[in-house]
Amino acid sequence: MARITASVYTSHVPAIGAAIDLGRTNDPYWAPLFKGYEFSKRWMRDQKPDIVFLVYNDHATAFSLEMIPTFAIGTAAEFRVADEGWGPRPVPKVIGEPALASHIAQSVIQDDFDLTIVNKMDVDHGLTVPLNLLFGSPAAWPCPVIPFAVNVLQYPVPSGRRCLNLGRAIRKAVESYDEPLNVQIWGTGGMSHQLQGPRAGLINREFDSAFLDRLIADPEGLAAVPHIDYVREAGSEGIELVMWLIARGAMSDKPPKVVHRFYHVPASNTAVGHLILENQA
Ligand code: DHB
Ligand code: FE
Repeated sequence: MARITASVYTSHVPAIGAAIDLGRTNDPYWAPLFKGYEFSKRWMRDQKPDIVFLVYNDHATAFSLEMIPTFAIGTAAEFRVADEGWGPRPVPKVIGEPALASHIAQSVIQDDFDLTIVNKMDVDHGLTVPLNLLFGSPAAWPCPVIPFAVNVLQYPVPSGRRCLNLGRAIRKAVESYDEPLNVQIWGTGGMSHQLQGPRAGLINREFDSAFLDRLIADPEGLAAVPHIDYVREAGSEGIELVMWLIARGAMSDKPPKVVHRFYHVPASNTAVGHLILENQA
């Protein structure tokens, strides 16, 4: 059977991608940030996941106000790197895993979560920046990726409760797949940040730290936090954090092992958070 061995959480700030693409990771501004991912890259080389199920949000790249799926699963064999306005990032294309993605769609939709099935989708910084942070900059990504896009741009966005329960349904789907696969689930976005309006640049360390604590130890309680609290405390784009509850819900009910925790300010206008949780054997 396939199993989810670990979950990885990380911000996906586009400026991090630009720093990598422009060879500036050792600049004094960026070095402390990339240092926080050195352990993660070593850990990843040991883990060798067969597949990454990557929860992220599209930033009006593949979708737009013309079409807004709440939850979209990428079932294609491959996904092109999106042009977000300055040409596609110079990173490998993303290879999908149509068989497992279709199985998860089948299982999760039968479990009453109405996913949108997407057979063609370019992937933006929300997906490619986390791949760089965890895998570095290889000529090809080391494993297939199932992109799972969540609407956190246009209200109404899904609740924390819905995200946690969806994660549980994804866990059940993976565990009913009859192949001996090591599957990781990643949640991306956040942490506190606001890119627009009078509060642009807002960072809330206290909220971010409490969010990480509760994601580890009290996901059930955290899932009850309403959107308005994210917006008030973590800024208008801080709502990306609800996606982390999908990855957390896919973990075992037993307390996870905290393998790595990192927090850094600033990365452009954003607080960067990163967590690795392993399922206990
Ligand atoms: C920025 C954009 C994002 O999508 C994000 O998650 C964080 C920061 C930005 O434009 O700086
Ligand atoms: Fe984002």
